[in-house]
Amino acid sequence: MKGYVLILGANSDIARPLARLYAAAGYNLYLAHTRPELLTEECERLKAEHGIDARPLLFDLLYFNGHEKFFHRLDPRPAGVICIGGYLGDHQLATADMEEVSKIIQINFAGPVSILNIAADCYEKEKAGFIVGVSAAMGERGFGNRYFYAAAKAAFTAYLSGLRNRLSSSGVRVLTVKPGFVATKMTAGISFPRRLTARPEDVARDIFRAQQKGRDVLYTPGYWRFLMWIFIHLPEGLFKRMKL
Ligand SMILES: NC(=O)c1ccc[n+]([C@@H]2O[C@H](COP(=O)([O-])OP(=O)(O)OC[C@H]3O[C@@H](n4cnc5c(N)ncnc54)[C@H](OP(=O)(O)O)[C@@H]3O)[C@@H](O)[C@H]2O)c1
Repeated sequence: MKGYVLILGANSDIARPLARLYAAAGYNLYLAHTRPELLTEECERLKAEHGIDARPLLFDLLYFNGHEKFFHRLDPRPAGVICIGGYLGDHQLATADMEEVSKIIQINFAGPVSILNIAADCYEKEKAGFIVGVSAAMGERGFGNRYFYAAAKAAFTAYLSGLRNRLSSSGVRVLTVKPGFVATKMTAGISFPRRLTARPEDVARDIFRAQQKGRDVLYTPGYWRFLMWIFIHLPEGLFKRMKL
């Protein structure tokens, strides 16, 4: 049997199929979420189907003070951490309400940094382990309708890049995941071209494969690398007039 993988934000629509892939590959799981009771049934199913251990755990990205204790109490220590929790937020509300801006920044950036710093220190000492951070392709250029979220993800992407740089000599792999548009509860109600909308199962499969191969950066689906290249290189004079 392989080690434990800790998934933070494990009730995400992408995290659920991802957990199933790890379970099928023989990994044990810590499924961490603000409401772990939502994951009890899933843990029982994964244990029965794959003969692994799977434990639902209480975890909140916003509860920074508890992160140290949370991580160090995990026994056995996870072989890797996947931080997938995120919050799109209410952009309109955020334009007038700093509390909403703060929530977007804390869940997408400060919270992940708080817990991943702890994992990073531990893995650096042990010279083993992997970290996966789920950021967003959108973090590469601020769009008029979601720039608070994009800014928080941009910060998270930069953080993961720095972490990868710091930990490379310790043999600790850090994967930055940049999903495009995925049909999950986070995007429910947002209209987007169907052809550019990915299924959570496909994104989960891409993440699993990229982590197993020890890759650094993943755009999923892959064509988002190309799409973002175009957006990044659009001249500002043109970009600022586009309604996206
Ligand atoms: N869907 C997309 O198009 C898309 C695109 C780019 C990036 N992403 C990123 O992909 C990741 C997964 O998102 P998803 O699409 O699967 O949406 P999702 O199903 O809404 O997943 C987000 C998860 O984060 C959890 N979460 C929220 N606040 C948290 C907190 N304080 N502590 C711990 N967990 C918390 C949510 O809990 P609840 O289940 O209780 O709501 C939810 O399970 C996110 O980081 C998102 O930003 C998604």
